[in-house]
Amino acid sequence: MLKNKKIILGITGSIAACKAAYLIRALVRKGAEVQVVITPAGKEFITPLTLSTLSRNPVISDFFSNRDGSWHSHVELGLWADAMLIAPATATTIGKMAHGIADNMLVTTYLSCKAPVFIAPAMDLDMFAHPATQQNLSTLRSFGNYIIEPAEGELASRLEGKGRMEEPDRIVEQLENFFTYQNSLQKKKILITAGPTYERIDPVRFIGNYSSGKMGFALAEACARRGAEVTLISGPVSLSAKHPNIRRIDVESAGEMYQAAIEVFPGVHAAILCAAVADYRPEAVMPEKIKRENKEDMTLDLTANKDIAASLGAIRRKGQVLAGFALETTDELINAGSKLRKKNLDFIVLNSLREPGAGFRIDTNKISILDNKGEVTDYPLKSKQEAASDVVDKLITLLK
Ligand code: CTP
Repeated sequence: MLKNKKIILGITGSIAACKAAYLIRALVRKGAEVQVVITPAGKEFITPLTLSTLSRNPVISDFFSNRDGSWHSHVELGLWADAMLIAPATATTIGKMAHGIADNMLVTTYLSCKAPVFIAPAMDLDMFAHPATQQNLSTLRSFGNYIIEPAEGELASRLEGKGRMEEPDRIVEQLENFFTYQNSLQKKKILITAGPTYERIDPVRFIGNYSSGKMGFALAEACARRGAEVTLISGPVSLSAKHPNIRRIDVESAGEMYQAAIEVFPGVHAAILCAAVADYRPEAVMPEKIKRENKEDMTLDLTANKDIAASLGAIRRKGQVLAGFALETTDELINAGSKLRKKNLDFIVLNSLREPGAGFRIDTNKISILDNKGEVTDYPLKSKQEAASDVVDKLITLLK
C-alpha cells in the first residue's frame, strides 16, 4: 500500500530521532518515496548524511539552500506529499504545530500540507502527561491529524512510563492501514447522528444530556476520509465538521432529528446512530417562561419520543447497514445485546460509563462491538478518532 506513496518525514530534536533511520528504511523498502525535513535540533541527534543516504533524497532543513541560495518551497513540498509523518515529534514541535508558530521549515511545511498528517510523539513521561502537551495534542486531533500514541517503557531519562515513540514497524503499519482503507468507502453514502438533543420546556429551558458530539463527529470524519459522502445530523454541539464530504444538518430536538433521519435514510448505504437522543420530551412546551411563584414542587409531564434507531431498523432495505451505540452503566453486554436485537441493528458499539476514559465530553473512548452474529470484540482505550476508525472498519466489512 505504500508503493510510490510520497511521504514527508519530519524529524525533531529527540533521542528517538535515531529510530528515524529504521523508519526510513522500512518506508523505502515498501516502495515509498521519502523526503526528510528536519528541525535544527533534530540535526543534533542524527546527521543529514545518514538520512539522505537512506532516503536517497537530499535532506531539507533550512528555508534556503546553503550552497546556491535557492529557496526550498514548503508550499510545493506540502502539496507534493501523500502523507506527512512527524516522527519523533517533540513537545516543542507539537506545541508549535498546534499554535501555528512557523519558525522552521518543518512547521511551515506542516501548515502548507494538504495531505493527512501523522504525529508520533516522543518525550519524557511527565512532559507527555502535562496538560499543556495533552491540550496541544487534542488541538491537533481537532485539526484532523492522527496521533500515533507513544508506547510505555524505559525512557531516555531512565524513568519508566508513557512517552517512548512507537516502534518504526508499528508506525509503518499504521500508515499502511490508512492507505488500505483510504478509498474503501468511495461512492458510499452514510448517515450519522451525533450529539445530544434538547427538549424544550419553555423559551429558556430544555431537557438535555452531556453528549458533546465528539464521537459522532469523529465517525463522520473517518467515513469522509475513506471517501464516503456523509450526512451528519447533529444535535446542539460546539464542534465543526471540517471535511468537504460532510453535509451537516443541524437539529435541536429528538423530533427534528427523527424527521431528518427518516428523510435521509432511504438514500444511504449505511447509518451509524451515535446521537444521545432524549427518550422523553415535555408534553407541552410553555410559550412563556415558567415562573417560580413560590411553588415548592414542580411536576413536568413527559411523553415518549420516537426511537430513531428502531424506526430505521423497521424500514431498512436489504443490504443497508445499520449500527447503533449503547452507553450503559450496568449489565453492559446484556443491555447492549438486547438493544441490538430490539432495534434490528447489524452491530452496536458499547461504551460503559464504568470504564475510566470512556463516555461523554472526553477525547478518549473504550469500546466493544457486538454484532448480530453474537461476536463481541473488545478494543483498548483509544482516542475517539481511533475508536471511530475501528467502528468504520467494522462497517466496511459489512458493506462488502
Ligand atoms: N436512539 C435513537 N432514538 C432514540 C433513542 C435512542 O436513535 N429515541 C439510538 C441511539 O442513537 C443509540 C441507540 O439507540 O444508537 C441506543 O440508545 P440508548 O439511549 O442507549 O438506548 P435506549 O433505547 O434509549 O435505552 P435506555 O435509554 O433505556 O438505555
